[in-house]
Amino acid sequence: MSFSKVSFLIFILFLLLCKPTFSDLLLTSKDLPEIPINFLNFAKQTEVFDWMVGIRRQIHENPELGYEEFETSKLIREELDKMGIPYRYPVAVTGVLGYIGSGKPPFVAIRADMDALSLQEMVEWDHKSKNPGKMHACGHDTHTAMLLGAARILQEHRDLVKGTVVLVFQPAEEGGGGAKKMVEAGALENVEAIFGIHSTTFLPVGEVASRSGPFLAGSGSFEAVISGKGGHAAIPQHSVDPILSASNVIMSLQHLVSREADPLDSQVLTVAKFQGGGAFNVIPDSVTIGGTFRAFSKESLMKLKQRIEEVIVGQAAVQRCNATVTFESKDRPFFPPTVNEGGLHKLFQRVAGDMLGTAGVNDMQPLMGSEDFSFYQEIIPGYFFFLGMKDETLEQPVMPHSPYFRIDEGGLPYGAALHASLAVRYLSESQTAARTYNGYHHDEL
Ligand SMILES: *[C@@H]1O[C@H](CO)[C@@H](O)[C@H](O)[C@H]1NC(C)=O
Repeated sequence: MSFSKVSFLIFILFLLLCKPTFSDLLLTSKDLPEIPINFLNFAKQTEVFDWMVGIRRQIHENPELGYEEFETSKLIREELDKMGIPYRYPVAVTGVLGYIGSGKPPFVAIRADMDALSLQEMVEWDHKSKNPGKMHACGHDTHTAMLLGAARILQEHRDLVKGTVVLVFQPAEEGGGGAKKMVEAGALENVEAIFGIHSTTFLPVGEVASRSGPFLAGSGSFEAVISGKGGHAAIPQHSVDPILSASNVIMSLQHLVSREADPLDSQVLTVAKFQGGGAFNVIPDSVTIGGTFRAFSKESLMKLKQRIEEVIVGQAAVQRCNATVTFESKDRPFFPPTVNEGGLHKLFQRVAGDMLGTAGVNDMQPLMGSEDFSFYQEIIPGYFFFLGMKDETLEQPVMPHSPYFRIDEGGLPYGAALHASLAVRYLSESQTAARTYNGYHHDEL
């Protein structure tokens, strides 16, 4: 018997003896705990940092709305070409899917959104939006720059990628449901898990925040046309007044959350649109109302949807009006709730903790905002988190979707390094899990 056979047997014996901790041993081997810091230091190098800042500013100057991100998409592809990263294009109109690694399983995805908002930038600076009425006021320019940053880190550390990382550059997050179209176009084929980042002006650079389980609300929107019969405002008996009817409809809608929903199951319903009439002495024929509703489970969302329709139609009828209600449309699809998978939360805490220390990793309450990242999470486990990019020179943090939105670009290396570390660590752990599953631990399954 040769020496290598003996050592192989000893190795097997070792595996049998150390069964419960073997996977832990593998995870902590090969300097994996150092990866996040190493990647961060790589991304902080002046040359890499300036490159990311340059990309972010270029995108900021040329904001494009959902499904119109042609220049942004072109910039992404040019950078991928320079790095020698293969990609698929077009996916969902302007979307790009890049691939780094072996081209073989396991596959993990990291995602950025590319679209801007219909908003006039009010910040006076060298890189102000050059497209009137359009602005990156939600940080998607930083998301795209950070995903390219992650691509560069991963490409330069290819040997650490134990499988394949899929770079998902998606269009139309702001209401257009770009993620849904990416999924339909096959973006998640073979992919086991996906990670997404949102920059935030409410956390300092070097901090992150997230939670396990329901994180962001699912959302739907509705529009209703309440029809009556127009006429002279001073002779109401010959009219059917849709303004009064719509007013009562709105009051009744406000009782859905307060009286029919579990107080511990957070929901919101807002009528944000009320249009009707144009003169002080004419009762109009009809009134159009519209709004949004949100909840943290699909079940609660669907229950709200059903009751919204019943209440609008029923309450309109009380004042002799007819109502038609419409919900999702192409421009405004339902967004499912963003629900973070528990196992990925633990991985995130380990990876972010290795980079930022436990003090930099915050647990946060769920938010009523919504994200189309949830379309990916409907298909595979996913994890979404906030990354601190607060501009400390401002007295008050600016809200996203504000024309005064400003962020600290110093957060870019953190986002890039977190994306890259999460992908690398996920793949290593997935490989370990697969080995465990296929061999050593099969008796436990
Ligand atoms: C409501 O619909 C019914 C049935 O179509 C119709 O007879 C009635 O005139 C409508 N009422 C109004 C106020 O439009």
